[in-house]
Amino acid sequence: MNDHQLELRRKAGERAIDFVHDGMTLGIGTGRTVGFFIERLGEMCRAGQLRDIRTVPTSEHSAAKLREFNIPIVSLAEFPALDLAIDGADEVDPDLNLIKGLGKALLREKVVEIHARKFIVIVDESKLVNRLGESGPLPVEIVPFEASSHVRWLNTLGCRAELWLEQDGSPTLTDNGNYLARAWFEGGIPDIFDLNRTLNDRPGILEHGLFLGMACQAIVAGEDGIRVLEGKNVR
Ligand code: A5P
Repeated sequence: MNDHQLELRRKAGERAIDFVHDGMTLGIGTGRTVGFFIERLGEMCRAGQLRDIRTVPTSEHSAAKLREFNIPIVSLAEFPALDLAIDGADEVDPDLNLIKGLGKALLREKVVEIHARKFIVIVDESKLVNRLGESGPLPVEIVPFEASSHVRWLNTLGCRAELWLEQDGSPTLTDNGNYLARAWFEGGIPDIFDLNRTLNDRPGILEHGLFLGMACQAIVAGEDGIRVLEGKNVR
């Protein structure tokens, strides 16, 4: 990622603050773009420009950043209905279906974001695609037990799947202590709804990065400024 892309992500993250109001309980995603949102949120709370904000983070990393800015953290047990969730994405299609999870937090992201009345995705325009899977892999969280058999099964779905490994060759671990696989679909995923069902039904597959029908708006920062795209998914 170059400095220009990072700057666009900053703009998208900061713009999301316009959708936050006093008293809201927020779902907070994971990634660089969300990091910019958290920084702005922290500044606004510190300056007294936003009051009575509570957050449910989707990763240990985002939780640490929220604590750094003294932003209150709560759980879904205490606050099961979130007013708004803000998160980045790896790919966004024209209907605002998403691939998420290259930041390794997809399971907690999906758990938190289904509790939000409204989910806004924040991206730079390089994340916009015609078809999900056309620019990168789909991350899949798998149970470590017999991990290679889950990866072998993923390879029967018309993709090339691999266990996600760290530099030292050890399996990448999520905050939940699970492994991740990445699945590359040449030319994109042919039928995202069919794949969603197939993955949801398979034992050993804990969660995957297809977030379908969840985002209702996308804040997209690009060369010509910031656009707010509307999805079909009004909750
Ligand atoms: C985290 O698991 C992901 O879903 C992120 O939301 C996604 O990778 C976007 O991250 P960036 O904002 O860092 O691009």
